[in-house]
Amino acid sequence: MAAPLPPSPDDWWRDAVIYQIYPRSFADGDGDGTGDLAGVRAKLPYLAELGVDAVWFTPWYASPLVDGGYDVADYRTIDPAFGTLAEAEKLISEARDLGIRTIVDIVPNHVSDQHAWFRAALAAGPGSAERERFHFRPGRGPEGELPPNDWPSQFSGTTWTRVPDGEWYLHLFTPEQPDLNWANPEVRHEHEEVLRFWFERGVAGVRIDSAALLAKAPGLPDFVEGADPHPYIDQDELHDIYRAWRTIADEYGGVFVGEVWLPDSERFARYLRPDELHTAFNFNFLACPWDADCLRRAIEDTLAEHAPVGAPATWVLCNHDVTRTVTRYGRADTGFDFATKVFGTRTDLALGTRRSRAAALLTLALPGSVYLYQGEELGLPEADIPHGRIQDPMHFRSGGTDPGRDGCRVPMPWAADEPHYGFGTEAEPWLPQPDDWSGYAVDRQTADPGSMLTLYRDALRLRRSETGFGDGPLSWLPAPEGVLSFARPDGLVCVVNLSTGAVGLPAHHARLLSSGPLDDEGRLPQDTAVWLRVR
Ligand code: GLC
Repeated sequence: MAAPLPPSPDDWWRDAVIYQIYPRSFADGDGDGTGDLAGVRAKLPYLAELGVDAVWFTPWYASPLVDGGYDVADYRTIDPAFGTLAEAEKLISEARDLGIRTIVDIVPNHVSDQHAWFRAALAAGPGSAERERFHFRPGRGPEGELPPNDWPSQFSGTTWTRVPDGEWYLHLFTPEQPDLNWANPEVRHEHEEVLRFWFERGVAGVRIDSAALLAKAPGLPDFVEGADPHPYIDQDELHDIYRAWRTIADEYGGVFVGEVWLPDSERFARYLRPDELHTAFNFNFLACPWDADCLRRAIEDTLAEHAPVGAPATWVLCNHDVTRTVTRYGRADTGFDFATKVFGTRTDLALGTRRSRAAALLTLALPGSVYLYQGEELGLPEADIPHGRIQDPMHFRSGGTDPGRDGCRVPMPWAADEPHYGFGTEAEPWLPQPDDWSGYAVDRQTADPGSMLTLYRDALRLRRSETGFGDGPLSWLPAPEGVLSFARPDGLVCVVNLSTGAVGLPAHHARLLSSGPLDDEGRLPQDTAVWLRVR
């Protein structure tokens, strides 16, 4: 196992590798089919050996789990399915002893409809102070039978639900996730207290869910296509909220990562000014197909937008909301398929795996911090979930047209030959695991020098022990069409070949790691990446 980290400077987050844990699917310690904190604690040595600097837990609080925990009923309690607060505290300190910091996920835009505040709001009725914490409104139309405005939902469907007394309440996501009213001082105060609560318990950082959505335009005006500002995205008031949060984080040395999806890079960078959030997710990189021009542009834009505010970039290839990388990069347009008699796309997992291996080296060589999503280090593909087992509300709200996000949330395979691949001992996992996953199991991959897990372990070890990685400058090197080649400090060079032929490598180099074998002439084959030290 890797030695515990020496005490690191306060800016650890500028180049950290952060591992995202979806607690429900990581490891099931009590055998009930749902992952839990006991499961995570038992796997901490695995994470230390992998070589990550921090873990980010998607919400672990008390929740009816209508939206996988992003419907929080009580921020100060751990969901009983996952464990207890005392266990979370133990986990945070055990992880820290192994050199791993903890990041929790705060969901300030909305709460669960089972949250005490929302129940009180329903009970108290129209005009009450309790309703002021949410967005309750009378409806439009002669009988108030029409929603108060026309805002589109972040999931498909309506954003308003009517309650028996005739008022409507706003929910950008599901009806079980009522939006909070951020113009209400109690809402602000409560979240500041929640931040303190978790910083007091030793967490090193907070991920802010839907960070650009909390503030709503006064009066909740109708949505007008192209209107600037948008009535609920990126309202200016958000910056005051995050400045107040920053002073709290600074008291504890804590850091923020915001989930900020904004196409406008100048607006995005505002959230990263020195007195606001430390970092934000960069989704443009993730949204690129396996295409050199798109990836290069995303990297250049990202670095350019972060530079003026002095914030480090973050890089992410997948998370609990998007199709797994191996499947995404493995989608090959096949034209007409004579076997199935359809035009369309086929997923070539071998291709997707090769590209994902190269993408891992690309991502880990870029300046800034990197997020890995559990199972990414195993090269898990997106799983097909049988119809009757789908859980994601996104699927149901789309009327069944969107498969939803369950395919990337399937419980982890730990041991090839154990029941449920060692995820848990007894009950069926909450989402079914595919029958052909034994080859992905941690124990099989540990023993295999050519596995995805071995690649990630080697890459993370080198990223720690070698100079030139993480925060710092990047300069592009001349390269043929379809090839990304860049230099980092101390002669560190990364070359990624997305072209259709093999390419030669710079002279006088030492090879640190490659995502696949070089060819007989020492050239880098298609869909392969390499890290070099060039003298
Ligand atoms: C974020 C989460 C997603 C959740 C949504 C609503 O986008 O990542 O999983 O459904 O917020 O909270």
